[in-house]
Formats: sequence, structure tokens, C-alpha cells
Amino acid sequence: MHCPIDDEGHYIKIHTIIASGEATVVVQRGDVAIKMAIVYKNYTLERVEDNRERIRREQEVWRRIQPDFDLPVEGIVPCLDLPGDTIEMRYMSGGTLANRLKHRAPPSIELQKRWFRQLAIGLHNLHQRRVIHSDLLSRNILLDDSSNVVIADLGASSIMPMDTVMADAVDEYNCSIWTDLCQLGLVFYEIVTGRHTGIRLYHSGGTDDSVAVFPSRDKLPTLDKRIWARDIIETCWKKGGYGAVGAAGILAKLDKMQGPRRR
Ligand SMILES: Nc1ncnc2c1ncn2[C@@H]1O[C@H](COP(=O)(O)OP(=O)(O)OP(=O)(O)O)[C@@H](O)[C@H]1O
Ligand SMILES: [Mg+2]
Repeated sequence: MHCPIDDEGHYIKIHTIIASGEATVVVQRGDVAIKMAIVYKNYTLERVEDNRERIRREQEVWRRIQPDFDLPVEGIVPCLDLPGDTIEMRYMSGGTLANRLKHRAPPSIELQKRWFRQLAIGLHNLHQRRVIHSDLLSRNILLDDSSNVVIADLGASSIMPMDTVMADAVDEYNCSIWTDLCQLGLVFYEIVTGRHTGIRLYHSGGTDDSVAVFPSRDKLPTLDKRIWARDIIETCWKKGGYGAVGAAGILAKLDKMQGPRRR
């Protein structure tokens, strides 16, 4: 009776639920993770429709990001199908980056660099497809069984027109590639220090908490000089810091760092 109902009207078995939020639930079926609207028997039609509409909006983002189910996008969780009002993704057995950082030994610098690279590629690919993620948090980053990271949860993302110059664009909530990069900088900080800051870009004391504000530098953590990624993170935390190349600028910085050691 207290089980949510899936897209075909069957009760969802509780042990298959990976996560359950306000409007959506993610269940595991073998190698597949399925995100769908939360529907309980006692829900009004209106509420059901609202939750389904959220999934449909996220499906639209997926159609922009990965139009071909056979061609996953580097750095983004592979979408396998979009049947009905559901999103089928590859099941990521390593769980979320937030949990990984909280419960496991700190990652080596080598692994940190791999994660930086994979996340920068993922975000670059999103921005190239004219999508702003808007919710880039460590709980929305997933790991596979080989400790590779991918960006997930496009539920808050905005689809911009294909001719948008992303470096200059903001969506209706004031999100931009720069707020995405600022959030990525916070994820990087979490990876390097193991500290979760809880800093949110949405409410900074104002009345309207749906509009994003790029935080001033003093609202963000100080970075010890010895942190290897200091320059990369500082540049994320400077609005426009990566210039016209955006997230790809992170890759350039990583390459530069690795250059001399390869000889
Ligand atoms: N492909 C996947 N493989 C494994 N677990 C997944 C997958 N997709 C989502 N999850 C799990 O489900 C959770 C919720 O998914 P997602 O972030 O997409 O939904 P949400 O309801 O929009 O989340 P939020 O709480 O951020 O609003 C994730 O944090 C993760 O634990
Ligand atoms: Mg999420």
C-alpha cells in the first residue's frame, strides 16, 4: 500500500529503489537505473501529472544531449532509452561522488586529476550542446565500477537555443556556464579537501530563492597555497575566468600541469 507505483501501474518493490526524492524515484533493474515520477495510490491526478511533467522536461534535455541511445556522451551518464515517462540510464554501481568522498579513503592525486578531467569534459560537452546543468553537486555525480565519474541529474537543466553564445548567456533563473563552473569548483574543492561546503548558489539572503547568484570570492572557501588544484579552482570561482573556452580551459590547465612530468 505504501509502495510507489511505476510507469506501468505496478507497485515498485522497495528493495529496488536507489533513491527517492520529492517528485522522482530512481529504481534499479539489473544494469539499468530508471528514473520516473513518484506516484502513490492516494495522489491526486494533478500531483501525478506535475511529477510526470518533470520527467518529460528532463527527457527533453536528454534528447538534446544524447539524441542517439547508442552514442553515449563522454563525461555524462549514458542514457539507454526514454520509454513512456521514464529515463533509463546505465546503472552506476559506484554510487554518488558525495557518498564516495564521505565514506571511503581520500582519492590519490592521480585519481583526483582523472576526476577533474572527466568532469571538465562532461561539462564542456553539456555546454557545447547549449545546456546549462544548474545543479552540479557531488550528489549528482556518479561513479562506475572502475571509479570513473560522470555527470548526472539533468532535472534542473536549461536547454538554450543552438545558436546561443554560451559565454554570454543566462537562463531564466540567472544560471549560466559560469554558475555551472562555480559549482564545479566547489565539487573540485570537495574532491581535494574532502570537505563538503554546502554552499548554494540559489539563496543568498534575498527573498527570491529561485534566482542564482554568482557568489563573491569572500563567500567561498580560502584555498591553501599547497593545494595542487588551487589555480584551477580559483579560476572556476572567478566569473568569466575561463574566458570564451569555458570548461575546456580546465583541460588546458591540467595538460599544462602534467606536461613536464611526462618527459
Ligand atoms: N544511473 C544511475 N545509476 C545509479 N544510481 C543513480 C543513477 N541515477 C540516479 N541515481 C541515484 O538516484 C539519486 C537521484 O537521482 P537524480 O539526482 O537524477 O534525481 P533527483 O530526484 O533529481 O535528485 P535530487 O535529490 O538531486 O533532486 C542519485 O543521487 C543517485 O543516488
Ligand atoms: Mg539529484
